[in-house]
Amino acid sequence: MTNSRVTGVRSIELGVRDLHQSAEFYTKVWALEQVCAEGDGIHFRATGGEHHVLTIRERPKPALLGVHFAANDRSAVDALCAKAKGYGVKIAGDPAPLDPTAGGGYGFRFCTPDGLPMSISSDIVQHPSVVLDRSRPTKISHVVLNSARIEDQVPFFIDVLGFKLSDSTHLMDFLRCSADHHSMAIFRNNGPSLNHVAYELPNIDGLMRGTGRVKQNGFNIEWGVGRHGPGSNVFSYFIEPNGFVAEYTTELDQLDDATHVPQDADYWQKMMPMPDRWGTAGPPSNRMRAAMSGALYLGEEQREDVRCEDIIGRKLG
Ligand SMILES: [Fe+2]
Repeated sequence: MTNSRVTGVRSIELGVRDLHQSAEFYTKVWALEQVCAEGDGIHFRATGGEHHVLTIRERPKPALLGVHFAANDRSAVDALCAKAKGYGVKIAGDPAPLDPTAGGGYGFRFCTPDGLPMSISSDIVQHPSVVLDRSRPTKISHVVLNSARIEDQVPFFIDVLGFKLSDSTHLMDFLRCSADHHSMAIFRNNGPSLNHVAYELPNIDGLMRGTGRVKQNGFNIEWGVGRHGPGSNVFSYFIEPNGFVAEYTTELDQLDDATHVPQDADYWQKMMPMPDRWGTAGPPSNRMRAAMSGALYLGEEQREDVRCEDIIGRKLG
């Protein structure tokens, strides 16, 4: 049972309005690489070893279709499924072999107590080579979810999936499943919905080069460049064509379980009265606040959705 915990975030799966336009954004602007397509979906890799870090599928409306976690081996997957069943969350079926055209492996799908779709898998094919281009993302760094019932979500991630609490603020709880300060965070907000997905860049120069590439393609930096409080990671935030928030990040704190002490909201309020450690970022734009709440991709602000389509149509069409 020692292995029965999640060890990382493999990939994110998103429903998008226009598969072709979104694929153009994620390859030419965001600098992922298409690795394969199957059915209604396209898979994209980053420069790290993970088979794919993003899957997009054409849907009538944008949607979060999955956050996909790694576990060490089949026995860990089986044990995690048993724990999730015992906890009472919805399971899509017992662990089974996965689609070989998407890297294969062994896993199962489930929903969080909030009803958001997730999966856990092992033995997915990894890429043998790592592409060396520091302006391109290496992997998924972290995923942040909104929840109106954070007190129900955090115990699930800790007790069932094996995450540890790294830090808390008045806004968020930060959860880790590796040395990375956080691979997941839960935002005290309306929801359930996706707040943002962060992609890791190798270093600050790479983050700035990548940020410049996205900006030169017509996408405003909606928040950043700055350095966060908890996790101390450098960030720049954008709104992609479907209204999802996408972050480039680097230099996330690496924690040692033996020595790390989680800090609480009062600590961070005293420590970090500014929005970022550098004082360069200022507050997020109003569009970014709306997007982080899920309002843009959920279609609660149609005017903003039209604007996103205008941008992608003009720059990539
Ligand atoms: Fe983030």
